[in-house]
Formats: sequence, C-alpha cells, structure tokens
Amino acid sequence: MDRLDLQTPDFTEEHIHKLAELFPNCVTETADEKGHIKKAIDFDLLKQELSAYLVEGPKERYRLDWPGKRASLLKANTPITKTLRPAREESVNFDTTQNLYIEGDNLEALKLLQEAYLGKVKMIYIDPPYNTGKDFVYKDNFARSREEELMESGQVDEEGNRLVQNLESNGRFHSDWLSMMYPRLRLARNLLRDDGVIFISIDDNEVHNLRKMCDEVFGEGNYIAEFIWEKTFRPSNFGKTTRKNTEYVISYSKSNPIELKGSLEDSKGDFSLTKKLHNTHTLKCPSNYVHVNFQDGIYKKGKYGDGYELLDDIYVKNGKVKNEFRIKIKQSIWSQKHLNNEIDRGVYLVLKNEKTMALYARKVYKKNELKPTTLLPNDIVGDVLEANKEINNLFKTNLFDYPKPSSLPKYLMTTCTEDEDIILDFFSGSATTAHAVMQLNAEDGGNRRFIMVQLPEPTDPKSEAYKAGYTTIADIGKERIRRAGKKIKEENKEKEGIEKLDIGFRVLKVDSSNMKEIYFTPDEVSKESLFETVDHIKEDRTPEDLLFGVLVDWGVDLSLPIRTEEIEGKTVYFVGHGDLVACFEEDIDENFVKTLAKKLADEDVLRVVFKESGFEDDNIKINTEQIFKQLAPAVEVRVV
Ligand SMILES: C[S@@+](CC[C@H](N)C(=O)[O-])C[C@H]1O[C@@H](n2cnc3c(N)ncnc32)[C@H](O)[C@@H]1O
Repeated sequence: MDRLDLQTPDFTEEHIHKLAELFPNCVTETADEKGHIKKAIDFDLLKQELSAYLVEGPKERYRLDWPGKRASLLKANTPITKTLRPAREESVNFDTTQNLYIEGDNLEALKLLQEAYLGKVKMIYIDPPYNTGKDFVYKDNFARSREEELMESGQVDEEGNRLVQNLESNGRFHSDWLSMMYPRLRLARNLLRDDGVIFISIDDNEVHNLRKMCDEVFGEGNYIAEFIWEKTFRPSNFGKTTRKNTEYVISYSKSNPIELKGSLEDSKGDFSLTKKLHNTHTLKCPSNYVHVNFQDGIYKKGKYGDGYELLDDIYVKNGKVKNEFRIKIKQSIWSQKHLNNEIDRGVYLVLKNEKTMALYARKVYKKNELKPTTLLPNDIVGDVLEANKEINNLFKTNLFDYPKPSSLPKYLMTTCTEDEDIILDFFSGSATTAHAVMQLNAEDGGNRRFIMVQLPEPTDPKSEAYKAGYTTIADIGKERIRRAGKKIKEENKEKEGIEKLDIGFRVLKVDSSNMKEIYFTPDEVSKESLFETVDHIKEDRTPEDLLFGVLVDWGVDLSLPIRTEEIEGKTVYFVGHGDLVACFEEDIDENFVKTLAKKLADEDVLRVVFKESGFEDDNIKINTEQIFKQLAPAVEVRVV
C-alpha cells in the first residue's frame, strides 16, 4: 500500500518532465550527492537544439535582474515538508464553512495550497508591504536545509529574527524586496484559473519594479491595467515634492487578457444636466424613471443643498422614485423637451444624495461598452479615512495601520468574479478582503469563497492592538472577520436567503510535518531508534491534524464539509461528497476493513486513508489493499 508523499510539489522535477516531453533526447541521468540516480537535462544538447535562438554570456538582453534572483527562484521551486493544522476553537462554523484563514508565512502557505488549489482561484488581491523604507519584510532563509526546516517548531513569529525591517540604508534595499515578492508571485500564478486575475496594490516605491516582475511572471501580454486609487480625498502634505494622493493597483490575467466588467453604478458615466444649457429651472420627471443612490422612503418637498428644490414629495422604492415629481434647480439645465429626447435615447436620471438631491443624467451602456475606467471611481471605492472608519466601527479603536477600505477589493471583485468563485489574499493584514467578500455576497446573493493568509506577525507592545489583547496581526484579522460577518448578517437580516450567507472560516496554521523526522530519512535510521518507525507520527498530533495533513498532501479541497461516523466503534472521517474517507484508529482488523470497503463502494468514495501503525498486524495491512481491490476497486487506498 502506498504511503502519501508528504511534501509539496517539486517544481524543478515537474519542469524537467515538461522539457522531456518537448526534447526527450535532452533527458539524461545523473547522481545526487548521496549517490541516488535522478533525471537531469543535458544542457549542451538542449543548447544545440535551440542554437539559433539563444542569448548567452555577456550578450545584451532586456530583462529585470537583481542579486538574489536565482536563489529566490530556487526557493519557489524547493518542496517543503510542512503541513496545515486546524484550529477549531479559533474558527467559526468549522465543519461547514467554505472559507479558509491560513496563519503562517505565505511562501509556505502558497506551497501547501499548490496541490488542492492548482488552477482554481478566480481572483487574487494582495496588498504587500510597499517597501517604504520602514516596512518589515519577511526574510526567507535560502540557506536552510530540509533537516533544519523539519526541526523547526513552525511558530515562525517566535523565531523573530526572520521578520526584519528593510531600511533604505540596506545595500540590498530593492533586491531584498524583489526576492521576497518573486517566489510568491510565481507560486500564486499556479493557483489562478485560466481566466483568473491578480490585482496588486502598490505605490511609487516599487511600482516600476513590480510591473517588470509581473511582466516576467504573468507575461507582458497578460497585463490588464494599472488602476489608480485615490487614497485620500483630502490630500494634506503627504509627499516631499507633490501632495501624493494616489496609489496603484496593477492587474494581470493568468492567460489571454480578459475583459473586466464595469459597474452600472460607476458614476464616471454620469454627466451633469447643465451641459446642454437651456434656461429652464424646473423639470418634470416621470415616475419610475429617476434612480436614487439612497434608502427607500418618503422624502418631503422643500429646499435641499447646492440649489436643488423638490416641488413634490418623492416616494422611493427599490432604488427608484415611484411618482412623477418636479424638481427646481438653481443653475440652467436641460429643457423639458431635451429631457424627453434623452429618455428616448436610454439615458436616465440619478439623485445621488438625500442631503443635496443633486440630479445627474446617466448613460446606460450596452453590456459590452461597460468596462471599468482605470481611475477607480471614488464614489464607489473609498479612501484611507473610510478604511480607518471601518476598523473603528468594528473595534471602537484603530487597531491596524494602513488598512484598505473594503470597497476597494469589493469593487475589483465586481469586475471579474461571480457566484462560487474563490478569492485569495495572501497578505491579508486586517482581513479587509474577507470583509469585502462577505459584503458583496450579502449584496448580490453570491457564494464567493475566500482564502486569507497572514503571518502571525507580533503587534507592537505599545500599540492599541496589543493593549486590546491582539498579540498578532492574525488575531486582528480573525476577529475582524468574526465581527464583520455578524454585522453584515444583522444589517441584512430582512434580506431573503441571508441565512445562507457564509460568515464562517476554518483556521489552519502552517506547522512542521505531522511525521517524525525519521519518516523522511529511513536510510538514516539508527539501530537504537529502529523501533520508532512503528509509529512515526508526532505525539502531539490529533486525528484532525492527520486528516488535514492528508488533505494537503493528496490535494483535496481544504474547505470541504467534514463529518464523522462511528463504524464498529471506530471514528471515521467523511470529507466532502466521497472526496476522502479517513480512519486513524488503532487495532484495525479485517472485519472492520471489509465493513468499511463495502460501505465506501456504495457511497462512490474516491480515496481512503489509514494510519500505517493502526493495523492490528502486518498481514492485515497487506490484506487491506486486496480487500479494497475486491470490494471497492474504485477507491484509492493509502497510509500515513
Ligand atoms: C499592507 S498589509 C495588508 C493590509 C490589508 N490589505 C488590510 O487592508 O488590512 C501587509 C500584510 O502582509 C503581512 N505579511 C508580510 N509578510 C508576510 C508573509 N511572508 N506572509 C504572510 N503575511 C505577510 C503583514 O503582516 C501585513 O499585515
């Protein structure tokens, strides 16, 4: 019976495989440092094959390079033996939610997600450290051996020294940042669907380098746009040379450039009624024609701000004025005749604000005319003040520096995601993206799912967050999702179907392997420790730890529903709809295996896994494979 391969994919091996398909003659064999034979590429032969198209040595070429690039690529390709351990008590609706909160270094988390989420993520939004000269950047230790990695506790924050401040005085200031981003983007690309899109927030410090890096990672032809985000609507003295009030969101698609969807609410399509001057001051607006941007209700006639006066009460229902009404406007506006012509052309009017009753005309675009403008619409996407307000509303204090407003990732989601899509943010900070996913689902009835990744970066002991009991940024992120989820549900309690809104999340923590080191290096087992191979699972690991280890290694969706059943007194886990069944009990005997095999054959189960040391004896272990072959041949059987 095969053991599960307990490490993340080795991308170098996979690349050799792909090269072998194209150039089988260039594949040869060589020995590694321990004398094991492995496949390799005969580079001299490959060069001959491509000789007319090679750039070599000192020849000039166009590319982005920095010291450390090669090492960081190696880092992306090197497998790790870590795992994800569930934290039930920190999760919400653990067994049923489809959302994930992964705590740990995102390089490791991205590797652990490779098998289960390869080509499955529709949208990635990230807001990485901008390299402002003050950021803490997670230094990947390229020199670490696998043995060292295995010995690690997995509590990365306790190591402390790997999270270092990247100061401008650092001679490798840009290189260190690029080396941090490069392997992460390479791994992130693998997770995107073919029609997937990545959006990356960034500012002037690294935008030029990031664009070049993304050209390389995603392909220049897949560049979509560099959106501009107005980060403050009231610019004070931010920059040395200018009052910088904008940042960027650069975007690329995974493969062929895709067309993003614009929003009907995007007011950049609105135009003022004063454009075609006619000395009219009062307009009669037909019922059901004027759209509003505020709540349903009755609004009394009278004077409002900026020179607008309602001459009749208006009744607003479902976002439209339901009665015919007159509005008087101080400026000269369209004639009534012009308005009637515009109605015929498909233009409609919008009352934007209940305080001013300012009236605008809005062109209705044909569906294919609707694409987002590269200047993010500032009446949909908020600024930093709004972002701080959101945190303040939830926590009554400012717990997190520089969050994004949830309206930013939410707007980006409207441009490319729908119903069941997966949205990933692997620099999730205060979990703004998770907040946005839940909010958008509440608004449009979607079932989008999120995966957040966040390092348990310690908060400053002097900070508000620390004083309020949040010792890591991950603690802030998780609590934000709990609070935001409750709030969104409460605010939408009248809405049909709101009870189905998924405000839960499953917390999984990056940790060392569930297996003792001996498992990975059987040839190094000494006589004294030989008996240890009987059970190579670490003592502190629970059956649920093992279950998630198996999901990671077998590439099974980590957010599938899980239930347990007692079968002949043994606990059996059922994941998804036949995706995986697991039993990590002791004393597994033939009767139990037969009962289980019959049941799994009836239920169309794909995979089953046992604990290797759980079988009563070696014969039963061998027979198990035979029993399944006879009674449930479609089920793949493995052990850990
Ligand atoms: C600019 S913040 C993101 C803010 C987020 N958009 C929000 O609105 O709250 C970047 C976050 O990435 C986290 N981070 C940095 N390096 C990381 C790594 N290697 N793995 C996971 N998270 C990391 C930092 O702790 C920080 O919280």
